[in-house]
Amino acid sequence: MKVKQIAFLLILFLSSCSPASKQPVSLPSEPFLVIAHRGASAYAPAHTFPSYELAIDMGAHYIELDLQRTKDGKLIVLHNDSIELNGNEMEIEEITSDTLGAFKPAEEFNQPSNQFASQRFASLRVPSLEQVLREFGDQTNYYIEIKSPERYPGIEQQLIDQLDGHHLLNREDPLPKVIIQSFSSDSLKKVHELSPSTPLIQLYSFKEKADLPTSKLKRVTRYASGIGVNSMAVTEHLVKTVHQSGLAIHPFTVNDPEHAAALISMGVDGVFTDKPDLILHLLSQEYEQD
Ligand code: G3P
Ligand code: CA
Repeated sequence: MKVKQIAFLLILFLSSCSPASKQPVSLPSEPFLVIAHRGASAYAPAHTFPSYELAIDMGAHYIELDLQRTKDGKLIVLHNDSIELNGNEMEIEEITSDTLGAFKPAEEFNQPSNQFASQRFASLRVPSLEQVLREFGDQTNYYIEIKSPERYPGIEQQLIDQLDGHHLLNREDPLPKVIIQSFSSDSLKKVHELSPSTPLIQLYSFKEKADLPTSKLKRVTRYASGIGVNSMAVTEHLVKTVHQSGLAIHPFTVNDPEHAAALISMGVDGVFTDKPDLILHLLSQEYEQD
């Protein structure tokens, strides 16, 4: 055999072995997933321990975490990529975790008009990913959003290493312990190469009804197991097209029971919600009627 032929066959063999060539895993079709958006964040400040504890106690299948990274390289759980501290706007990537320690995430939640405001939340701080994983270990499932990957080079490897350190990846559980989501397809493709067995969700947001042609969804199937879409953009046609492509669909963020019921009847596979109790109650009623 000529050298060129041998080289060609070798490349073919190696490319078939590379993790990037692995198909994404399929998410189980049951149960309908109740994803506690930033925890049970209607009832306790978002992305705090009380919010996550409440979501787990209510029976949510996943707690949702948004990730940012501080200047000293710590992954922290916070929606926004900046905070206001002592009247100054500060980017998370430019402050240390020590500085972040002065920020009180409950202040926005603890408005007098909020019936769930409580002084017991006043002393809460922004948790690190490490603290959340140590606290809850494998007693819950994690639905983690890589929020601003362009700001945080290497965040994909860092996240996978950290999850691996807690033995949360490559497991044989009825539900995957970890699902990773992002609006950034580049970031998700990196995660898929690093951890092909971790289910990924490609996020989309539309001003009008969702427009996702089959050709686009087919490209998503190369690295992701499903999509997340803002709930008002979801249509029955979209759900059908997504399912025909072999993907799952999880709309966000659904707090109204009538809207949740409409999405369930369209056939979505789960929803992000600030009120896991409400969605779980709705689901229990649906099963009673069956
Ligand atoms: O992750 C789905 C949904 O949470 C995206 O919106 O802004 O709440 O992170 P956001
Ligand atoms: Ca999110």
